[in-house]
Amino acid sequence: MGAGADHRGGDQKGSVMSTTTAWPADRRITIRDLRAATDRGERWSMLTSYDTLTAGVFEQAGVRALLVGDTSAEMVLGYGDTVPVTMDQMIPMVQAVVRGTRTALVVADLPFGSYQPGPAAALANAVRHLKEGGAQAVKLEGGHRVVPQVETLTAAGIPVMGHLGLTPQSVNVLGGMRRVQGRGDAGEQLLADARALEGAGAFAVVLESIPAELGRRVSAALRIPTVGIGAGPHCDAQIMVWQDMAGLTAGRLPRFVKRYADTRGALLDAARRYVTEVASQRYPDQAHSYT
Ligand code: KIV
Repeated sequence: MGAGADHRGGDQKGSVMSTTTAWPADRRITIRDLRAATDRGERWSMLTSYDTLTAGVFEQAGVRALLVGDTSAEMVLGYGDTVPVTMDQMIPMVQAVVRGTRTALVVADLPFGSYQPGPAAALANAVRHLKEGGAQAVKLEGGHRVVPQVETLTAAGIPVMGHLGLTPQSVNVLGGMRRVQGRGDAGEQLLADARALEGAGAFAVVLESIPAELGRRVSAALRIPTVGIGAGPHCDAQIMVWQDMAGLTAGRLPRFVKRYADTRGALLDAARRYVTEVASQRYPDQAHSYT
């Protein structure tokens, strides 16, 4: 039996709306805590994080699980998509997020190339994320085609989060990033993929950029939590790339992105005032100098 297939009876998922806070304060949140929250109808949040300081802030804010995503390729390393980032580049970021948190569950993304070769590669790299990085779980993209990997990891005691819908590592077969996935017949395929991941032992599944109605159907069909990003309001949890959520990214953003702050504006203003004060010799003043 896989990590995601071991609990919960026949109650309808999330049928009891609850705001109960039964989250641990003195230990890391586990996949069982996430599942229990979903069982009691509580919606929980995830964000990406790639460094110690943001990880600590997000944990303090009540974000229950942090994803050290392969979006680090774009958000941290400046690549145009997620394909180039490697295990060796990601592990220091996983370590930083783990060091910056005490209670959040840390999920480490398996980057492109680290699990596609097969279950043995997936196991070796997932073990690195747990042993070297200190993560508690890993995430990978795909449905039926990654079932052997998910089975192998869960059998080895490694919790696996699936990822369906828009799977950015497949940018080259998707022919660019067509945003919304799962329309028409593709929705049935996605539902079958989600069931396959659950059957293989995944403890949760990310649903990215799919119609809200499909998000609802998948969430109702699975016992494990669904984590939506552009998948509508019916998912059991939500995740966003933190730079999108906090308004640090610029340009045209997907429809589902809601900016909760203008971090880009605040940072730009601070940096501009610093530059001006240095140029005008107002910084450093006496108050910021040693006697
Ligand atoms: O890598 C990532 O940040 C992700 C999220 C977009 C879910 O996979």
